Amino acid sequence: MNETYEKLLNCYESCRKKVDFVPKAALVLGSGLGDYAEGIRQEAVLDYQDIAGFPRSTVEGHQGRFIFGYVKDVPVVCMQGRVHYYEGYPMSDVVLPIRLMKLMGAEILFLTNAAGGVNMDFAPGDLMLIRDHISVLAPSPLIGPNSNSLGPRFCDMSDTYDARLRRIIRRTAEKMDISLREGVYMQFTGPQYETPAEIRMARVLGADAVGMSTACEAVAANHMGMHICGISCITNMAAGVTDQPLSHAEVQKTADRTAPLFKKLVTESIAALAAGV
Ligand code: HPA
Repeated sequence: MNETYEKLLNCYESCRKKVDFVPKAALVLGSGLGDYAEGIRQEAVLDYQDIAGFPRSTVEGHQGRFIFGYVKDVPVVCMQGRVHYYEGYPMSDVVLPIRLMKLMGAEILFLTNAAGGVNMDFAPGDLMLIRDHISVLAPSPLIGPNSNSLGPRFCDMSDTYDARLRRIIRRTAEKMDISLREGVYMQFTGPQYETPAEIRMARVLGADAVGMSTACEAVAANHMGMHICGISCITNMAAGVTDQPLSHAEVQKTADRTAPLFKKLVTESIAALAAGV
């Protein structure tokens, strides 16, 4: 058994000793959605620090715990506080919570994040359904000995953000009269925001939004055969698009302002996705 898989199994056993809940969907809460889980019918809470060997999030405003419960009637696990590569963890630790949620039973992974808008048609406060990603700037979480128990050595990435799930989310947004952009998310490692030249590069490469998470999580989840979807909240226009300097405070402010609408869309989408998978 390889080291990564052994660590994962240890975390799983530690989790299972405390919580027997079996989620159908896993939801990663990005900036602004941090308190989403407070509004769901909660069954159990598990702090990351109570899971043996689990990496801990150190970013301000990111709490670290799993919340198990029901969104409408769908059993979910919410990840309140994700682990970022820029915190210094190896990629295998960054994606460990994703793998753990799959082992706990989640077949659907719903990713959310805050992102900078690269597409000039976007504006802060827009929501963008992730159609695809570019993750070449961040190391792959699949580097190292492959664990065949998790997935294949060379995994196909042609339909990572499940076309069917995207259709369901688009239809849900339409029904709710919520305008939803769609585009390509590009992951940078951070923690510094990008330079204007890097953003021009991202645009040339086909990115619509940039951020510091998500794509690596989608890679690990895809490796394990999860059905993946994701929505970015465009919290700011990326570097160089406007004269304004970028700040975490601005990102947080827009994320908080957009949160009520984002939460409604997430709730309705989860209900629709669970019915459709
Ligand atoms: N760049 C990277 N990550 C981000 C941004 C950005 O402009 N906004 C929110 N997260």
